[in-house]
Amino acid sequence: MRVVLGVGGGIAAYKACALLRRFAESGHEVTVVPTRAALQFVGETTWAALSGRPVARDVWHDAHEVPHVRLGQQADLVVVAPATADLLAKAAHGLADDLLTNVLLTARCPVLLAPAMHTEMWTHPATVANVALLRDRGVHVLDPVSGRLTGADSGPGRLPEPGDIHTAAMAAVQDRADALAEPTAEMGLRGLRVLVTAGGTREPLDPVRFLGNRSSGKQGYALAQVAAQRGAEVRLVCAHTSLPDPPGVQVQRVETAREMQHAVQAAVAEADVVVMAAAVADFRPAQVAEAKIKKTHHPGQQDEEAQTAEQADDARTLRLVRNPDILAGLVQARGANTSPLLVGFAAETGDEDGDVLHHARAKLDRKGCDLLVANEVGTDLTFGHDESTVHLLRPDTDAVRTVGPATKHATAAAVWDTVREILGTL
Ligand code: CTP
Repeated sequence: MRVVLGVGGGIAAYKACALLRRFAESGHEVTVVPTRAALQFVGETTWAALSGRPVARDVWHDAHEVPHVRLGQQADLVVVAPATADLLAKAAHGLADDLLTNVLLTARCPVLLAPAMHTEMWTHPATVANVALLRDRGVHVLDPVSGRLTGADSGPGRLPEPGDIHTAAMAAVQDRADALAEPTAEMGLRGLRVLVTAGGTREPLDPVRFLGNRSSGKQGYALAQVAAQRGAEVRLVCAHTSLPDPPGVQVQRVETAREMQHAVQAAVAEADVVVMAAAVADFRPAQVAEAKIKKTHHPGQQDEEAQTAEQADDARTLRLVRNPDILAGLVQARGANTSPLLVGFAAETGDEDGDVLHHARAKLDRKGCDLLVANEVGTDLTFGHDESTVHLLRPDTDAVRTVGPATKHATAAAVWDTVREILGTL
């Protein structure tokens, strides 16, 4: 594999030497592209000796070989460690004023950035926005780890350990290979009609306010996208998300749980598989005010204490009513039939009553679906924001398939593999 190792100008540049050794020792051809500032920390001779190759320093060297285009185009993987705040900003905005930033613009392979900087720089809104932009574009940006920084301060900003960067980089390459792989006949979904829900429902309170949740919709989108790539006819019913429509998928946007229920009910007759990846609100406000609720407005009956507090404008009670459980409705409507195959999602944490798997198994029994994808939340098992660990549970076996930490695409691929397997047993 051809690896470009970009090195930014930070004290953690010395750790990139250990990362370089890992790539080189596992047989990869590594070209080091240090920025001018990086060479202040670790010299060209060190990079050349460790990589066994000349160091690519600037756009004007060997200009006849057009290195600013060639290096990026030919790379199978680009890793930047450490990625400074300046490099993140340049990468996010497409600036190309040196060789490394040119490589980032020309690379079409997986790109992994491992930031390291002072905590203030990492948490600055500009850096936060740049990282979000890069991640949205599919660039893998690791979170720095917490610990001692240069000088006396400590906090999030340290470069992750070289071994962890190496593992994440190899996972990014594997994900890309999985996404591009031609599905085998048994894993393909040609001829299958699938209905996927995604995003978080929003339940209005008045014309300007709603109750919502933090669901990004990314997992549902990945499921729709992978199914379409594998040849399925895909319909996506989507509550709130800021993602653009995935290509080759018929998208219907909805807002509330009840709108989602109507859309799902209207489409379910045409579906062989339904995947409920949406975060559906279990409750909605009992009343939706027609005009904006004012601070001095006192709707509904409250208990005495609440009433007194409300009269002092210090409290407000919101009455909620139950939303329909869409998945439970699908299970009920299907009755004794085996079609459509129903997949549920569950965000679970362990507690004193049992671990994630215990709660997931109970939910699978309660919901009565054919596959439950249990998302382990509230742990630090994930490596970077876009990766998570899920457990796939089926009612016909005690065996559990655990996937991850993996990207949403890799998780989606595993879910469809399992759906195909279940369909094969019906
Ligand atoms: N779901 C649904 N309709 C709802 C709520 C949830 O169809 N009103 C679906 C979700 O899309 C998901 C699954 O049901 O596929 C699990 O949702 P969750 O809210 O985690 O399950 P609950 O049974 O509500 O359990 P909990 O008590 O943990 O909230």
